[in-house]
Amino acid sequence: MIYQIYPRSFRDTDGDGIGDINGILEKLDYIESLGVNTVWINPMILSNQEDNGYDVISYTEVDPLFGSEADGERLIRALKDRGMRIIFDFPLNHTSDQHPWFQEALKGPKNPYRDYYVWTDGKDNRPYPNNWTAAFGGSAWSRELNSNQYYLHLFKQSMPDVNWDHPPLRKEMAEVLKYWIEKGIDGFRLDAFIYIDVDKDFPEHPEETGPGQDLNENGGNIPYYLSEMNESIKEAGEDVFLVGEATSADAELAQWYTDPENNMVDKIITMQYFPEKEDEKDDAVPGDKQHAPLDLKAFKEVQKAFKAQEDRGGPVLFWTNHDMPRSLHKFASADSEFRDNAAKMMAALLYLQKGIPIIYNGEEIGMKNTAFDDPGNIPDAGVMDFYQEASKAGWDHKKIMRHLNLIARDVSRGIMQWDDSEKVGFTDGLSWTLYNRESKYNVEDQEKDENSILHFYRKLIELKKTALFQKGAYEMLETKDTLYVYRRTLDEKEALVCCNFSEEADTIEIAEEWTSGHIVLENDGNSLEGGRLLLPHMEPPYLSKMNKPSKTVHNDLYL
Ligand code: GLC
Repeated sequence: MIYQIYPRSFRDTDGDGIGDINGILEKLDYIESLGVNTVWINPMILSNQEDNGYDVISYTEVDPLFGSEADGERLIRALKDRGMRIIFDFPLNHTSDQHPWFQEALKGPKNPYRDYYVWTDGKDNRPYPNNWTAAFGGSAWSRELNSNQYYLHLFKQSMPDVNWDHPPLRKEMAEVLKYWIEKGIDGFRLDAFIYIDVDKDFPEHPEETGPGQDLNENGGNIPYYLSEMNESIKEAGEDVFLVGEATSADAELAQWYTDPENNMVDKIITMQYFPEKEDEKDDAVPGDKQHAPLDLKAFKEVQKAFKAQEDRGGPVLFWTNHDMPRSLHKFASADSEFRDNAAKMMAALLYLQKGIPIIYNGEEIGMKNTAFDDPGNIPDAGVMDFYQEASKAGWDHKKIMRHLNLIARDVSRGIMQWDDSEKVGFTDGLSWTLYNRESKYNVEDQEKDENSILHFYRKLIELKKTALFQKGAYEMLETKDTLYVYRRTLDEKEALVCCNFSEEADTIEIAEEWTSGHIVLENDGNSLEGGRLLLPHMEPPYLSKMNKPSKTVHNDLYL
């Protein structure tokens, strides 16, 4: 089980308003108390901090913003001492333009580092070599001063894409991993790795302009690049866990990426988990910045498709990360009286499936997103254009901001609510970003309350460690859209997980033998009446775990 830490927002010990390594060290007892055995930490290596660590200046230096090299070593050792594993983020698709490789590359076409990046000549009659756009706005190409050459940046002008076609670059990247493996790092999250195979024909996007990412994702050379890297890093450590960020991957691609024969990655993180009800969007306003509710029917289909990963231990299971708003707030009832129930229900719904949960810091106390008042403060590309178009379509400020605050990625990066003091126990200084201050939804208050979301997460994680939930077969049962019910089975053990994703009370009927089972997790509000299990308003699941009666087949479960 993985706990994702966004270091900027976790705990600040030196008063600069930005979380740091000592802050993580200070909270290790807390992290361990959750029951997780692995942490993934977003980048803490030297960066220009234009993209919070993903614009790397040095792959092997700890950014002084977060601490010293010795602090980094202490953190790795401290986690090891507790028997925990540690995953580092590895932005391997691009560097910062301040990286010494790029600075060298700028010295001219003959410089040995020139080919570390992707260049092409300008075309006489066009402002850019082709019509690709960058994910964070503008063209995907920038012209260097004093020449007619352009470099590629699929994300941002200051983040040039590196050239994986160039063997010395690949060698350097493998060396980076070896360096950290030797320091004790157990795994890596390969950031945006699906774009590392750039099509050097630079084909035009079929639309007038369009994301360069569309034409460069999932390239056929990726297995070659990654398997070579994996062979090379074996010298430093055999069992390195690799989870690749593949935002657009569906289940089929996930199978390809995680196929042991291809020797690429162990797991992928996809953003395709969360299909929204597109038909509820307003056609007059750009869809990509509009929020819509989770399409539960489609969500179930996605989950069923990812069952293909079952024989590989299942996919990673997550609701939220630093690149998307917190799902509890986006898709469920964070603003209603059902907040606690929804948080617990969602955790059980995903994490008891087969696979590896990734819990994003703050999720375990039901944190909400932060809210921007001014669109100008939201760093995502295209926000101001959206604001103008939505205003033209008649949306008022409040409505526009509600949508933006449910799609912008920074809203999930609010600081961790340790207590309800003025600075929520995060810093003595001025916090780098927005935060919510709430009683009850902070670690201190939830520690004291046995029924809190935090305690529920702990119980759930304990349960997840049992063989049934680790290894058991997984089968989703057909129900109406708003219910989500599945069975886990292992030898004589079975569990039925029943979740209600609506704010309406609901009832399911289950076979009698299930109702007499031992209730593993119980919460106020669940009640049993005869053979019927009531799940009022977003109640957390009722988990029934029992030994399979020898003569009964559970196929007669009717719902
Ligand atoms: C990944 C990261 C994201 C970053 C981007 C560019 O998607 O998760 O935070 O901005 O890559 O590196």
